[in-house]
Amino acid sequence: MITFGKSARDCGTGRKIRMNKTILCIGAGYVGGPTMAVIADKCPDYKVIVVDKNTERIAAWNSARLPIYEPGLDEVVQRARGRNLFFTTDVEAGIKEADIIFVSVNTPTKTFGEGAGKAADLQYWEKTARSIVECATRDKIVIEKSTLPVRTAEAMQRILLSNDKGLKFEVISNPEFMAEGTAVTDLQKPDRVLIGGMETPAGQQALQAVVDIYAHWVPKERILTTNLWSSELSKLVSNAMLAQRISSVNSISALCEKTDANILEVSRAMGHDSRIGSKFLRASIGFGGSCFQKDILNLVYLCEFYGLPEVAAYWEQVVKMNEYQEERFVNKILTSMFNTVAGKRIALFGFAFKADTGDTRESPAIYISKLLLDEHAELAIYDPKALDNAKVDLAGIPGKIEYTHDPMAAIQGAHAIAILTEWQEFTTYDYREIFARMEKPAFIFDGRNLLDHKALFEIGFNVYPLGQKALTHLI
Ligand code: UDX
Ligand code: UDX
Repeated sequence: MITFGKSARDCGTGRKIRMNKTILCIGAGYVGGPTMAVIADKCPDYKVIVVDKNTERIAAWNSARLPIYEPGLDEVVQRARGRNLFFTTDVEAGIKEADIIFVSVNTPTKTFGEGAGKAADLQYWEKTARSIVECATRDKIVIEKSTLPVRTAEAMQRILLSNDKGLKFEVISNPEFMAEGTAVTDLQKPDRVLIGGMETPAGQQALQAVVDIYAHWVPKERILTTNLWSSELSKLVSNAMLAQRISSVNSISALCEKTDANILEVSRAMGHDSRIGSKFLRASIGFGGSCFQKDILNLVYLCEFYGLPEVAAYWEQVVKMNEYQEERFVNKILTSMFNTVAGKRIALFGFAFKADTGDTRESPAIYISKLLLDEHAELAIYDPKALDNAKVDLAGIPGKIEYTHDPMAAIQGAHAIAILTEWQEFTTYDYREIFARMEKPAFIFDGRNLLDHKALFEIGFNVYPLGQKALTHLI
């Protein structure tokens, strides 16, 4: 257990540092861990404690092998850990000591009761709010870091203020916009930091305390302040807008395949319009990740709840289009391989929901694997970082699955390769050698438009990109 004090020693210089305030983060996940590591790194005058109920996770944060893979994270953690950054399971002591509490516990889609399948399950958030009330002995600022439905802060404030100790709590919304794989640079150089507070003097004072943290390294013009409800809603809508671009471009990839237009050229032509912009126009097998689907469904539920069925249907279509794109990819594999993949070995290159992360939450690879297994395909899965998670995701699903740390083992005797994640290393392989070791005819289905399709075709592969003409030797 750590002892909480108001001063600590900088490991690098041995200098004694005075700690201004203590920040606590409840939830040491993909969001809480990196965010607090960067805050501690940038604000040596704050003590930052990260707590989690999961002992294994905390042990990993305190070890040489962090629980999540993020480029650049090891260095940041090493600089701050033990100096002004501490990981512990002692929630109670953390709450007592903290001036400012970030709450970054998970808010998954509800699986039961009213709003099942769409609404956010707020049970962890509510439990956390209750623990804060129970353990606190003085006033606190409580910050919503988890993505929450609009007006959650109202319910939270009610729980927090229901205490009989005369304590005051100010709720602030400070949603996180970092993306996995680039979390550290996104946190160090954010496009914007959004902070929402109540429009009362106490609310504004609390808001300023949070601005002061980020002002250590974020230029003032990038720190946006709004009212609480705008901040909560902006997070949901930002994710919905990003996902909507992907679904839009994926829908057009289907049309490209019918018309011999090329989705890469269409995306490039659209993206050159500065009003549209070039980002998030990459056609893919579909978006994954812990946020997009959950946040859109949450938005859909909110719209239904507030009596806006047309708005709800509009956003729900973004998720439906995503499912369609995943199914379309599997159908393409099936029809191209003579309408059967039963007993055929298919090498899956990549399982993570995007490159540079080991995270597989809502990864399109999960659904695609299940659909292929339904067709009795035999899967050989290779991913440089996500194999452990893949095993958990597919546990108990009937069918033949091999997990391998060697891509060459995955393709041995395979009929097809499906590229499911855009790991750059896939572009560096010797595809002549791979072709030689595969069954013929050999197929490549590039679900990320990552590889050099012409070169593969010349080697002898039948190549099926997304939203582009297939290059096939079959008559
Ligand atoms: C989570 C939410 O999924 C997302 O909506 C939100 O925007 C930020 O927080 P993430 O950090 O990716 O994102 O989730 P996860 O990696 O699951 O981390 C949550 C952590 O909270 C877990 O380590 C879990 O053990 C911890 N937790 C959860 C607690 O410590 N106490 C609880 O009561 C519940
Ligand atoms: C997203 C948001 O970008 C981030 O701001 C928010 O805080 C959390 O949710 P993340 O899910 O980590 O971040 O990754 P992101 O880069 O947005 O990718 C999400 C999914 O969209 C991935 O599966 C990715 O492969 C896919 N994608 C992205 C595409 O299919 N095409 C694109 O052009 C961009």
